[in-house]
Amino acid sequence: MLLEVRDLRVEFRTRDGIARAVDGVGYAVDAGETLAVLGESGSGKSVTAQAVMGILDTPPGRITGGRVLFQGRDLLTLKERERRRIRGAQMAMIFQDALSALNPVLTVGDQLGEMFVVHRGMSRKDARARAVELMERVRIPAAAQRVRDHPHQFSGGMRQRIMIAMALALRPALVIADEPTTALDVTVQAQVMDLLAELRREYRMGLILITHDLGVVADVADRIAVMYAGRIVESAPVRDLYRAPAHPYTRGLLDSVPRLDRKGRELYAIKGMPPNLMRVPPGCSFHPRCPMAQDVCRTDEPPLYEVPGGRASACHFWRECLRG
Ligand SMILES: Nc1ncnc2c1ncn2[C@@H]1O[C@H](COP(=O)(O)OP(=O)(O)OP(=O)(O)O)[C@@H](O)[C@H]1O
Ligand SMILES: [Mg+2]
Repeated sequence: MLLEVRDLRVEFRTRDGIARAVDGVGYAVDAGETLAVLGESGSGKSVTAQAVMGILDTPPGRITGGRVLFQGRDLLTLKERERRRIRGAQMAMIFQDALSALNPVLTVGDQLGEMFVVHRGMSRKDARARAVELMERVRIPAAAQRVRDHPHQFSGGMRQRIMIAMALALRPALVIADEPTTALDVTVQAQVMDLLAELRREYRMGLILITHDLGVVADVADRIAVMYAGRIVESAPVRDLYRAPAHPYTRGLLDSVPRLDRKGRELYAIKGMPPNLMRVPPGCSFHPRCPMAQDVCRTDEPPLYEVPGGRASACHFWRECLRG
């Protein structure tokens, strides 16, 4: 297994108390595989990714438990110097907002080239040539000229391509893309996603794709992990999850996506709001919003039950849920 996260825990200490932003999360990604991580705002998708990458803001964040096994090594036990060597070269991250992730005062050529200078010991000249190649690879028109431009001189879509080029420059084994297309308009979103999927195939990378967009997930992901209030509540191969979700929260997410075959029908919305992480409800944290909730859900926290077909669900009533 390329990456295996086990029982990861991250807390934020705030004036109002301790928020368990990541509360025992586990997931795994193999080489060449795409795992989509789905869930409402604040469910812990990004904080999990930051902890895996080793870029969590500490303080206020603190990893309080778990393991992050990358190619068999627990990253949480490595020294920062070793982690830095892995970051960039073997695992890389693509962020939502390229403008704030790229350095505004350097040309894109210098930023791309820097990767080869630092990690590969190349000369400036060779690094520049590799930067142009990379820009061509992510289909930036007139790459040989544009390599001298600064990030703000590119459109949003082109900037996102540059960030993809940065992330993939050293052909990492694992890429984490955190809402990589959310800031773009719909047609550009599709182009950037297609490019990312194509490169992932070509390089046989493992990809963790954090997204709100269930439409995107269906096309590119192999597996899905659904997060709610700092936990994984369901995980399954993508097709099985679409066909029959094993958690009412997943069902709610699926039912709230507009579909052509249900035109004219009112869209479903999951009632209520995600919980405040300082005051997570007892029992199943989803119970106040759940249309299937029973007494046991208000008192007993569901474990992550194994569901046939390589799936898992944190619902006491996953069988009923599967039946629809
Ligand atoms: N710097 C911080 N200080 C305090 N709490 C934080 C901080 N960053 C994150 N959190 C807490 O961690 C929780 C999870 O945040 P995270 O950014 O992982 O959510 P997310 O699932 O990525 O949401 P989104 O879809 O909005 O990006 C938040 O609900 C918040 O309570
Ligand atoms: Mg996020």
